[in-house]
Amino acid sequence: MIMKKIPLTVFASITLFLLNIVSLYGQDAQSANQTGHYPKQSWGFIGPLGTYDMASVQRGYMVYRKACASCHTIKYMRYADLQQTGLTLEQIDKLAAMDRMLDGKDAQGLDHYRAATVEDFLPPPYANDMIAKNANVGKLPLDLSRYAMTVGGQADYITAILLGYRKAPESFHFDQPGFYYNIYAAGHQIAMPPPLTKDGIKYTDGVSASIEQQARDVATFLSWTAHPHLVERHRIGIMIFIYGIFVAILIIFVKRKVWSNVK
Ligand code: HEC
Repeated sequence: MIMKKIPLTVFASITLFLLNIVSLYGQDAQSANQTGHYPKQSWGFIGPLGTYDMASVQRGYMVYRKACASCHTIKYMRYADLQQTGLTLEQIDKLAAMDRMLDGKDAQGLDHYRAATVEDFLPPPYANDMIAKNANVGKLPLDLSRYAMTVGGQADYITAILLGYRKAPESFHFDQPGFYYNIYAAGHQIAMPPPLTKDGIKYTDGVSASIEQQARDVATFLSWTAHPHLVERHRIGIMIFIYGIFVAILIIFVKRKVWSNVK
């Protein structure tokens, strides 16, 4: 009888402990499931204790706005979401006011624009997908709201594709005119023109805006837009983990007490 009960409690404790570890690591397992051959980098937000470098997220937003927003939407993000990066509503209002929102028609029936406000979702660059495709040799610049969540779309890949443009070898055959040679793109060709330029942006926090830095910052920003609650989830995970250890200890303790008289 005792022999049967003891392994059961120990088994229960170990199971609880393992479940906790799974709950902590499980959400990052997908991030680690990357395909393709491109350089792996270290990111502060990967791993069970990961947090975002919010200065990098803020710089990444500036890169997105300057170098990506003319083609890609981030339609599920509101300007106000930037509060999570540590910006105040006044600062965000100033950023939003730099962008124009379509706001119905004017008296002549022409499109009327107004300045964006903190309440708005980020504006789309094209009126619809058809126009977007026509402007990009038939390829749709995808919405980047959740891109970094997709398998193969993680920060390493985003950085690689942004830095992977090279001069095409003489013998290389493009499937279609208007494509660009990129060593990390499928078939080594992509419809997106190289979006980042050296000195294309000046950071206000003194960080030097090399192409590599811009790529890292925008990849960090896109990871944040895809997982804005990551840090919160990690905090809850850790609390569950500590709670689990507590329960495991309690089970062992109760078991000892209950069976202490049984000889
Ligand atoms: C001139 C328009 C344009 C700009 C500017 C632009 N992109 Fe793109 N992007 C595209 C198009 C078009 C595609 C689809 C390419 C294809 O399917 O060949 C694309 C594809 C992508 C992809 C997916 C690549 C893949 O392998 O599927 C990512 C990631 C991406 N862009 C990120 C960015 C980021 C980040 C920026 C800003 C730094 C940016 N893009 C700027 C047009 C653009």
